[in-house]
Amino acid sequence: MKIAIILGTRPEIIKMSPIIRECEKQGIEYYILHTGQHYSYEMDKIFFEQLKLPQAKYNLDVGSGLHGKQTAKMLARIEEILIKDRPDVVLVQGDTNTVLAGALAASKLLIKIGHVEAGLRSFDRTMPEETNRIIADHISDYLFAPTETSRKYLLNEGIPEEKIFVTGNTIVDAAYQNLEISKNGADILEELGLTEKEYFAATAHRAENVDSKERLGGILSGFSQIYNEFGLPIIFPAHPRTVKMIGEFGFEVPEGTRLIEPLGYLEFLQLESGARLILTDSGGVQEESCILKVPCVTLRDNTERPETVDVGANLIAGCGEKMIICARQMMESKPEWENPYGNGNAAELTLGKLQ
Ligand code: UD1
Ligand code: UDP
Repeated sequence: MKIAIILGTRPEIIKMSPIIRECEKQGIEYYILHTGQHYSYEMDKIFFEQLKLPQAKYNLDVGSGLHGKQTAKMLARIEEILIKDRPDVVLVQGDTNTVLAGALAASKLLIKIGHVEAGLRSFDRTMPEETNRIIADHISDYLFAPTETSRKYLLNEGIPEEKIFVTGNTIVDAAYQNLEISKNGADILEELGLTEKEYFAATAHRAENVDSKERLGGILSGFSQIYNEFGLPIIFPAHPRTVKMIGEFGFEVPEGTRLIEPLGYLEFLQLESGARLILTDSGGVQEESCILKVPCVTLRDNTERPETVDVGANLIAGCGEKMIICARQMMESKPEWENPYGNGNAAELTLGKLQ
């Protein structure tokens, strides 16, 4: 069996890394096809280096652009490669434009598709990710659902039961595998002059947040209120999209918020585990905070990770006045919840279903 692993962005590299490691371990034939959706060193290569991943066999270098153009470029180039280097199965992960293009190209060539992290739903069709994940799920042959909740969503949409496998999420594998390694490396808390549990960690990059002056402004004001109330610094490794939009809107970063470059995975895991509280609009960061037992406040109006809320690890705050209310509540919470995303063997379970 030959597998093509298609990826293109930071979270896909991280969440596919356990599958790549498992392919290596089991001697499964595979190759990596990188669309180049993310390309800056700190959004791409750093993860290949830190996670010791083999280089992509193909890199399409599509870069940034409008959704249609970016997806179309990927689709055309992925198709060429899949014809030339035909795999038995294509694996895609998550909900990015890379996933949509990869799944669509494979579908038309009648190549089997495995969707890792299938069945997530925000029920918000204004999010580009919701469209991508719904289409990917409906054209996939193997749907690797992280939880029973995601399996139920898929069944409700009429996807046949025999195509769905509950595996847990590969982010648990990635976090467990790399947390220990990260403790032996450079100490990011020391580098940033931070004391454990005496700071907040924050990320924000969702289009609907950072491309809106009102919502991005709301996030920065919320950070300011949180700093004023708790007196703890907010460490904010910002996605390039966010840095660009802060500049375009002419916002000042408020006192108490430290905007820094995006971190490598090993450093970011340390920053997350040491934080008193995490403030984020990221999907992966909501999951990691739950796994690492750090309370989370989500800067969105909904989440496709309801499991984190159900276990008491996360509150949905939006980008306005509710941020401080949710922060107060989560500061009181005891991190005694169970991780709903599996035992860290999702990669093994996933590959097991393909053979
Ligand atoms: C994409 C995904 C999103 C995912 C996120 C992970 C889609 C529709 N969105 O959003 O679901 O959560 O990746 O981080 O697929 N940029 C750089 N360097 C890079 C990459 C991006 O500077 O390496 C800047 C560019 O200005 C670019 C902007 O970020 O225009 C947005 O990049 P893009 O890939 O379109 O979307 P993300 O916001 O990264
Ligand atoms: N991450 C990282 N460095 C950072 C911020 C995030 O390594 O500075 C990792 C984080 O640990 C998680 C992933 O990036 O595994 C989440 O990616 P992102 O927030 O870009 O996308 P999403 O999960 O929302 O699709």
